[in-house]
Amino acid sequence: MKTIFPKEILLYFIFLISICTFAQNKSERELILIDKEWRFSLGHSYDKQKDFGHAEGYFSYLAKTGFADGPASSQFDDRAWRILDLPHDWIVEQSFSESASYSHGFKAAGKGFPEKSIGWYRKKISIPESDQGKIISLKFDGVFRNSKVFFNGYFLGTAESGYNGFEYDVTSYVNYGGQNTIVVRVDASMEEGWFYEGAGIYRHVYLQKTNPLHVIENGTYVTSEIKTNNAEVSAEVSIENKGNYKGAIEIIQTILDPSGKEITSSSENALAPDFYKTVKYSSKLKVNNPFLWDIDSPNLYRLVTQIKQEGKIVDRYETSFGIRTIKFDPENGFFLNGKALKLKGTNNHQDHAGIGTALPDELQYYRIKKLKEMGSNAYRCSHNPPTPELLEACDKLGMLVIDETRLMGINEYHLDDLKRMIERDRNHPSIFCWSVGNEEWNIEGNIVGERITNVMQGFAKSIDSTRPVTVGISSGFKSGISSVVEIMGYNYMGNGDIDAHRNEFKSQPGMGTEEGSTFATRGVYFTDDTKHYQSAYDRKPRPTFYSIEEGWKFYATRPYLAGMFIWTGFDYRGEPTPYGWPSVTSYFGMMDVCGFSKDNVFYLKSWWGNEPALHIMPHWNWSGMEGQEIDVWVHSNCDEVELFLNKKSLGKKKMEQYGHLEWKVKYTPGTLEAIGYKNGKKILSDIQKTTENPEAIKLSIDKENNVNANVSVITVEVTDKKGLHVPMANNEITFAIKGGKILGVGNGNPTSLEKDQFIDEILLTPITDFEEQKVTTEILPQQLPVYSDNDWTTAFKDRDYKKQAPSYVYRGQFELKDYSAIKNVNFFYKKIGVEVVVFVNGNKVNSSAEDPQKYILNSNILKEGENSLYIIATPLQKIKDWDVMNTDPGIIQVVTPSKPWTRQLFNGYAQVIIQKENNNKPVILSASAKGLKSHTITISGKEYL
Ligand code: GAL
Repeated sequence: MKTIFPKEILLYFIFLISICTFAQNKSERELILIDKEWRFSLGHSYDKQKDFGHAEGYFSYLAKTGFADGPASSQFDDRAWRILDLPHDWIVEQSFSESASYSHGFKAAGKGFPEKSIGWYRKKISIPESDQGKIISLKFDGVFRNSKVFFNGYFLGTAESGYNGFEYDVTSYVNYGGQNTIVVRVDASMEEGWFYEGAGIYRHVYLQKTNPLHVIENGTYVTSEIKTNNAEVSAEVSIENKGNYKGAIEIIQTILDPSGKEITSSSENALAPDFYKTVKYSSKLKVNNPFLWDIDSPNLYRLVTQIKQEGKIVDRYETSFGIRTIKFDPENGFFLNGKALKLKGTNNHQDHAGIGTALPDELQYYRIKKLKEMGSNAYRCSHNPPTPELLEACDKLGMLVIDETRLMGINEYHLDDLKRMIERDRNHPSIFCWSVGNEEWNIEGNIVGERITNVMQGFAKSIDSTRPVTVGISSGFKSGISSVVEIMGYNYMGNGDIDAHRNEFKSQPGMGTEEGSTFATRGVYFTDDTKHYQSAYDRKPRPTFYSIEEGWKFYATRPYLAGMFIWTGFDYRGEPTPYGWPSVTSYFGMMDVCGFSKDNVFYLKSWWGNEPALHIMPHWNWSGMEGQEIDVWVHSNCDEVELFLNKKSLGKKKMEQYGHLEWKVKYTPGTLEAIGYKNGKKILSDIQKTTENPEAIKLSIDKENNVNANVSVITVEVTDKKGLHVPMANNEITFAIKGGKILGVGNGNPTSLEKDQFIDEILLTPITDFEEQKVTTEILPQQLPVYSDNDWTTAFKDRDYKKQAPSYVYRGQFELKDYSAIKNVNFFYKKIGVEVVVFVNGNKVNSSAEDPQKYILNSNILKEGENSLYIIATPLQKIKDWDVMNTDPGIIQVVTPSKPWTRQLFNGYAQVIIQKENNNKPVILSASAKGLKSHTITISGKEYL
């Protein structure tokens, strides 16, 4: 079989994708990303008023079609809401609180915070008249969680899971040639997992337009069988007919090779499905001498499915796929393309420093690349289906994947999650195994677990027959799930006797779905419980858990075990075991939440990677510890390593396979050097040098990971006067950016309670005690008159619209808490009169130039506490008896501008994630700190690729 160099493939794909997007014919299918410019506000989980009066209507959206109320109605005035782009996670924006959720990283939002558990998103889109006749749908990749979606005031449905993608057909509700309103109410008041999950629309949203006759959501299934040097590809496609066409159709399926060349095509004639029916069609295509998908050469083919109706192409649907074989063997482990491959895996959750779960696509590539650099070849999506872009990154970069759904059961709730995951993901060559559960302690060892596993496993097979099923098990490996699951998933050597289980179930393949759960703080070499510091030396963390080295020695030396998945590749928010508050992230990662390496990464590079590796630890800045013994470890795959302190040899040692080397060294400042030998020859060296004090800031860009050339990861560090990285530096750095924006900052410190994001805070303040008086003239005053104190009545109460006064004066008040002149205060007026004048604290205010119903309130007329608002207006007339008249004067918006972005370094490092404003313009990022030389970098388009 042929192979192609992966980087070339990747670039070629980027090129192809751009061409194809360009070539997409509008009459076939359009998929339009609608992530930009959503309006957002927090609501409230039980206080209806704070939830903008939603679901209060006598007839609300479940009673009558199109009766969505509050923000769900298209008439709702959202001008005072914040504008943001997706993906968005509102939890990461919040501060920390000891009373918040331990498992979710102590952010003061979500469960237990009713005022921060509901998020409202609104967006207006226009749909042209020319789209009449098309099927228009909204496609969400994932919303955390329990979302309700409305379109033009029509309720579309509820999606409970925070991890499934879903689509809604909105064709019947569209306002063609005009504006359409999408509203999403997200309820994150309940958690699904026991780890940070974020909240909001944290994955992409698309507007999709197809012809009535079209390929359904996730409607293709491509499998291949390799016979000698050829692959027989089966391309199954599900076509739905949402129109009235009856008669012949042609289904043309074409395969493009990794270079984009058309290599084979088939055509089938069929009858169109009946109205609203879906029918599956299947084609067989032959690929001679295929480029196999492999972890080192991740070759991807594309299947283009076209539907022809009366000679015209009405749909064109693309499926990326790979040709490869997978096999689990109970004696010899896992095989990819017929070759044994030990799985060197990590478990991971989906959040990242600074941005929570709202990862731009580029960050998926950044993270998968970091794992590959560590020597890892497999990724377990614990414990939920990932965002589609993660799987795309794994397909393109060559990373095997276990795709997992969590809750075990046999009812629609459970099986539908499983079905959605498999149907969405089954064409990804990177996925080699489905996982249908993890550590289900209640059922693992009993007959209920056995029964459920049998159903879920069989059900999974009915949707995808090409991959096996596993479950991660932790409470003993014997009966229950363990005895029936196809691939035994051992969660931790300490939880049972793996060899004994294997001897009892000799025909059942197995792998370590979790191993490790070791603790380490990056850059820390002495455990100090008072500071919540866990030393980074790889040691057995708890009596029933083992070090990474112990784990790998066990798995590496047992051919029957397909491999192991470390808990975890990256630290994540939540589960700060062995500590609690104020630790807010886990300590388990081989890398911290930013992706900065802890020392274990170098153990893995040594024994997982293919390159010679050598790493010496710890750093050599131990001022005050002169003469004391320090543990010096070397991770390497060299045959021998010799250690030198200030050029004096401290001895040469032989490296044991899958081991590491240790010395005890009395501390003297200077240079600690390790030299690695292979076959008696020096091949590598690594040093740790005592540095001087921090002198200058250094910013550097991660150049390689950016695919869309839009988001970038910047490393922040400080150097001494010789330019050496200072390992223990903890300076606070302030950032400024031009031509782009900062998405988030982090530093990998599990106890950091610093802000992840610096964004303007928007507070919506109601106008209270709204009262009115009749005025006998239509002429509106330019100065606030004195009104009799006795004649005020509740505004609009008992208004007789047939006998209205010439004009009315309304008064109300709004409260400004902690007011200062830096806050920007705006009154978003809602029409309650024809002609109006507005007075705030007795001063007449004028409406703004940009919006005649917005009043920008100057700080010199505002005060702390109660402020008065008078509106004098000629009345609106009620034309028809059933006209609903507005009685709401509007809302006060208080904007507190954010402080400048800052972050402390943690043991020498911090990270800034930046996004370009416009791809053609450079971004300029500056970093400054007291007593240090500043640094500014300019990131132009070229530097991103
Ligand atoms: C496992 C569990 C993981 C994580 C880990 C922490 O039992 O499957 O999700 O909680 O423990 O040690």
